[in-house]
Amino acid sequence: MNVRNHPEGIVRRLARSVGRAMLPVSRLGLIRRINGTERLETQVWEYSHPEWPEASDGYSVLFVSDIHYGKLLSREQFDRMTGALATLESDCVLLGGDFGEDPEDSPKCICLLAPILRGRRVIAVPGNHDICDGIYRGALEAAVKGAGWEMPVNACVPLTGGAALAGLDDFREGAPDAEALKRQAQGSAFVVFLCHNPDALADIVPPFYQLALCGHTHGGQVTLFGQPIFSSSIYRGRYLTGWKRENGADILISNGIGTSLLPVRIGATPQMIKIIFRRGPAGHRLMESAISGYAGKNRKVGG
Ligand SMILES: [Fe+2]
Repeated sequence: MNVRNHPEGIVRRLARSVGRAMLPVSRLGLIRRINGTERLETQVWEYSHPEWPEASDGYSVLFVSDIHYGKLLSREQFDRMTGALATLESDCVLLGGDFGEDPEDSPKCICLLAPILRGRRVIAVPGNHDICDGIYRGALEAAVKGAGWEMPVNACVPLTGGAALAGLDDFREGAPDAEALKRQAQGSAFVVFLCHNPDALADIVPPFYQLALCGHTHGGQVTLFGQPIFSSSIYRGRYLTGWKRENGADILISNGIGTSLLPVRIGATPQMIKIIFRRGPAGHRLMESAISGYAGKNRKVGG
């Protein structure tokens, strides 16, 4: 089915038309001050786990999700993101899907990011906006291959000595196969699970991974008293944002970079997250946090 005739595509296109009409207003005066779309929070976490391989102590990943490149993402916010990508060094860059707001935008986003990330190892998984019922999977795979990135879909790849990276297909628009991942992950001392939509985690009991990195929820995108007004998760607030622990495994959900459908973020600041892995007692500690962009202020936490 062509995406233009996809029923969800029609609803999305209508919502996006409203969103595009809102763009000029959303970046004005008081509204701009309330709206968080033109901010970016960079966080650096130290994550410690007794099963992390000792030889890979200090290994780091930069996790970026939900860029939603397209008409709803300003040039300034894209530049803010690429600036942070260039500044935050890491051993590997993990991209959590939803590169474009529209599936036609996803390969364009990847082409723009490719030279910025040249020379770095990049591992990506698809999001629901990238593949749209599988229709655009081929274009996404071609763009990823052209960029020289890896995209393990329902597949495990070595991350660093003794640790594996398991990538899942999108929960809503793809064909996720957690059982296949579980089989492939056997024998790895530590498994990082890269998965666009955290809703997929609820059915993986017991978990075959120690740490899952997810996006999709945008931190609710527009929240009231910490709760999303409209949720993209079937579990609503269960996988909203930040750190969680379920069934003995850790989960970190990023707010992502851009917006979906409407150019509005309230109570869900865009995020880019760096994680430094340590072998040791289980725990995580925020080392540094800085907010750039409109009404942002740099601040440091911890030491
Ligand atoms: Fe998204």
